[in-house]
Amino acid sequence: MSQSIVVKKALFPVAGFGTRFLPATKATPKEMLPIIDKPLVQYAVEEAYLAGIREFIFITGRSKRAIEDHFDDQLELELELDRTGKIDLLEKLRATIPKDSHFIYTRQSKPKGLGDAILTARALISPDEYFAVLLADDYLLHNKRIQNTLTSMVSIVNDHPGMVIATEQIAIEDSRKYGMVSGKNLGDRLLNCELVVEKPEPKDSPSTQAIIGRYILHGKLFEFLQGAKPGSQGEIQLTDAIAHMIQKKVMPVTAFDIAAQRFDCGSKLGYLQATFSTALEDPSLKAGIIALINNNKVLN
Ligand code: G1P
Repeated sequence: MSQSIVVKKALFPVAGFGTRFLPATKATPKEMLPIIDKPLVQYAVEEAYLAGIREFIFITGRSKRAIEDHFDDQLELELELDRTGKIDLLEKLRATIPKDSHFIYTRQSKPKGLGDAILTARALISPDEYFAVLLADDYLLHNKRIQNTLTSMVSIVNDHPGMVIATEQIAIEDSRKYGMVSGKNLGDRLLNCELVVEKPEPKDSPSTQAIIGRYILHGKLFEFLQGAKPGSQGEIQLTDAIAHMIQKKVMPVTAFDIAAQRFDCGSKLGYLQATFSTALEDPSLKAGIIALINNNKVLN
């Protein structure tokens, strides 16, 4: 039997400016915006942890210190919660940093695109290693019936060695916001990618299947990122490097149509929808949200 593929490391590109949430994101990273009581970046770390990953690598930039502080001990606060008997809160606080994990930070001096952010971590990943990438502002809501997305992707890479990218159906007029994929249907929500294109105009899009922010990539990608020319928006694009690898038949690339509900928390509407949908899954908040909608004077 061939050896199973283990994914040990996850990259979190968090150097972007978050301009759509200014002034809230002037001094606070957009990845620290909370959905109820946890920041977006923590949900992404928890998803990676559930998938068996224990090394979390953050590609940060200016004004991103809050992320490092969030994944560090806060001894004074812990002592205070302990002294006042707030044990539930103390446990929640400690759970932000799983003790068997490593948190590593590297800095991208200028945000020059997702591909460039990933390239910043080249020295931390070996050329024959698989690794995950999670974009924290793509927030995934998994209800109890749905398997954790990155966990599913780790099983997929074991069945289909090569790279795996998460996707979902979108309206064609939104193709200019996403990497778009097309290829051969393999069943079980999987597609063998033949074409990936970054942010095409709707008329040029190969399909309505869009890439969303979860990837299992391979160390060979770095060679392709290294030589990549600026693409869409003048940035070094991850999608272009993946397209190049498909074209050169370096390894298969499998697209997974995710089962989780996904929200674009880079947009105000997506962020609000994520917050309300998460609250509706929480028994302590659900009734209050439904009452708000039913009795809202603006709506009624
Ligand atoms: C990035 C990727 C794009 C992908 C998207 C998912 O774009 O370049 O291919 O579809 O994330 O959120 P961005 O949203 O950073 O412009």
